[in-house]
Amino acid sequence: MRILEVGCGPAQYRGVVRGDYVGVDITARAYAPELPRDPDVLADAHGLPFKDAAFDIVLFSAAFHLLVDPPRALSEARRTLRRGGRVAIFDYSRRTLERLAGTYASTGQAEGVATLTCADWVRLLRAGGWRDPQVRLNTSSLRGRLASAIVPRPLWNAWVDRMERAILITGTAP
Ligand SMILES: C[S@@+](CC[C@H](N)C(=O)[O-])C[C@H]1O[C@@H](n2cnc3c(N)ncnc32)[C@H](O)[C@@H]1O
Repeated sequence: MRILEVGCGPAQYRGVVRGDYVGVDITARAYAPELPRDPDVLADAHGLPFKDAAFDIVLFSAAFHLLVDPPRALSEARRTLRRGGRVAIFDYSRRTLERLAGTYASTGQAEGVATLTCADWVRLLRAGGWRDPQVRLNTSSLRGRLASAIVPRPLWNAWVDRMERAILITGTAP
């Protein structure tokens, strides 16, 4: 498995995902002295420096809501995935993003996807040409088969618990 994490920050999944991991972030600047970012490649999600069909999985973890042009980021994810490859977008739920809105108001972030309903997510993926778009909302259903296939279950559970309520969107590259 070749796995690309876009917006990887500290790259906490390197070494724990089952496969060859590449982490991309727009910056390598540490969040704080004790909290470093650790990307393999510096790049913008809206223009990835990888050849077509280079990966089997493209993962966005708590990063997609920061992107200013979601359709373009999805298009880049699709281009870098092999046919039949999977995108997994794990993020805060709409309710959590609303709660965090004050945090983002000053930066203009989280405007792109913050208001999307589950049906909107499905439409967004369909419009981008993805097959089999699926949306799972709330924590219990996220502890499922797909999640544990990408990330070992204890780590995934810790991740979900931290997020209050979460959403997982998946699609298959045509
Ligand atoms: C909340 S952190 C999540 C880090 C990591 N994925 C995790 O789950 O621990 C979001 C990351 O996305 C990165 N990011 C934001 N906009 C980006 C963009 N346009 N392209 C690439 N990375 C971006 C940020 O720099 C940040 O490191």
